[in-house]
Amino acid sequence: MNFVDPGMIHKKLLFRICSMGLILAIVVGMGVWQMEKNKIGQGVLLNAKSGFKHFNNQIRPLLNHPGNFNRDLIRQQLVSMMGERRVDQLGGFVSMGIYTLKGELVTLVTDDGYDHMELVRDKTGRLNEKINTYKTMKFSVIQIKGIPHMQIFSSLGNDLGAPAAYGETFFALAPETLKKVRSKAIKVAGAAVFIVILTTGLLYPMVVTLLNHVSSLSAKLFQANLEILKVLGSAVAKRDTGTDSHNYRVTIISVKLAENLGLSKQMIQRLIKGAFLHDVGKIGIEDDILQKPGRLTEDEFRVMKKHVPYGVDIVAKAEWIKEAIDIVGCHHEKYDGSGYCNGLKGEQIPKIAKIFSIADVFDALTSCRPYKEPFSFEKTMDIIRAGRGNHFDPAYVDAFEKIAFSLFENYATREDNKIKTELAAIIKEYFYT
Ligand code: C2E
Ligand code: SIN
Ligand code: SIN
Ligand code: FE
Repeated sequence: MNFVDPGMIHKKLLFRICSMGLILAIVVGMGVWQMEKNKIGQGVLLNAKSGFKHFNNQIRPLLNHPGNFNRDLIRQQLVSMMGERRVDQLGGFVSMGIYTLKGELVTLVTDDGYDHMELVRDKTGRLNEKINTYKTMKFSVIQIKGIPHMQIFSSLGNDLGAPAAYGETFFALAPETLKKVRSKAIKVAGAAVFIVILTTGLLYPMVVTLLNHVSSLSAKLFQANLEILKVLGSAVAKRDTGTDSHNYRVTIISVKLAENLGLSKQMIQRLIKGAFLHDVGKIGIEDDILQKPGRLTEDEFRVMKKHVPYGVDIVAKAEWIKEAIDIVGCHHEKYDGSGYCNGLKGEQIPKIAKIFSIADVFDALTSCRPYKEPFSFEKTMDIIRAGRGNHFDPAYVDAFEKIAFSLFENYATREDNKIKTELAAIIKEYFYT
């Protein structure tokens, strides 16, 4: 895990709460809008249903002879019906028509005082299906000039109980009714937002307290992970070179080279963990060999090489330091395949391990070892150049050449606090931001 910035979490949390409030408002507003509209629809439908029934009862005997309806009498009934039902607080019936079962108009009564009567009239008498299939009423909403008009059909029966004709009526919703519904939906949506804000206001301080607690735990955990890196790295360094500074220096040097090569932040994080722990397996190498003042025999070197698999075993045991495995396992591989432990070649060797191996050898050469004195910058670079294409990736040697002298001047053999401060800055840059 990386360090988690609590400020970032606050922002995310606030953003999420605001979006939730907005979504809730939209959903609630739309729900209310729909519900109110349905309620109005139900009311109109009920009104129309009783109207049709009443009307049907009055004209039932007039429908007993299909094809020979008395239009005038039917019309008279319809006009009086229209007079009774025209106005309603929600709106009004603006058109009522009677049709034969074949869809021929018998008579049509309209409210000629209505503003959009022409447009409504255009919509009348347009049935796609045959009316005798309507067992109940058919109801649909047609928008005319932005005003919902409910079109209601009903079959009309005769004395024999058979469908004999059908009626079609248009109910125009009053603009005030629409306005009322709209404002109700907005008010309820507003109330929903208010409740969300109120609840958030009450809960937020609690959430923040918990969040701060978790952040501080997470910061401590992260700190503890970093300390494990240092402790493990130092434990080995104490036995090997006597100080931690080799680990500090190779980490700084390899990060500089990696930055020069444009590696991603994530890769450099892995590189840092690996650099710190690269020789952790030396903990399993006996002192007689590890601290031998002279050259190692072939057998002794065979034992020394085991620090690589030992190290892999150690870092594989903990999740956070597992990312060090590429470098721990491959820092002695060589570009031409002659390295250990697996004789990997070229692109088979992880990039960060190839970068690290240049830093490691550079630091070993410029430092004092039980078996050698520090070499000059020139001699060091001669050895590195001699390794171009066999020990090291040539592209990385070329990149290293450009920064080598400045690295030598700034870091070689240094053991002071400047190294520690600089490493702390690198860790801050790559793990805390
Ligand atoms: P180390 O001392 O940290 O050296 C790391 C690597 O730097 C070496 O990996 C080698 O590639 C390079 N290096 C170090 N000194 C020299 C040098 O004088 N000349 C050249 N050309 N390269 C050098 P290597 O060889 O795989 O060794 C791994 C580790 O084994 C070394 O880590 C060191 O701890 C140990 N070691 C290697 N050779 C000797 C030796 O002759 N005597 C003793 N006592 N230990 C040795
Ligand atoms: C990267 O910088 O993310 C690429 C590293 C790689 O391919 O090993
Ligand atoms: C190993 O030494 O087996 C690890 C090699 C790798 O990380 O690729
Ligand atoms: Fe090593």
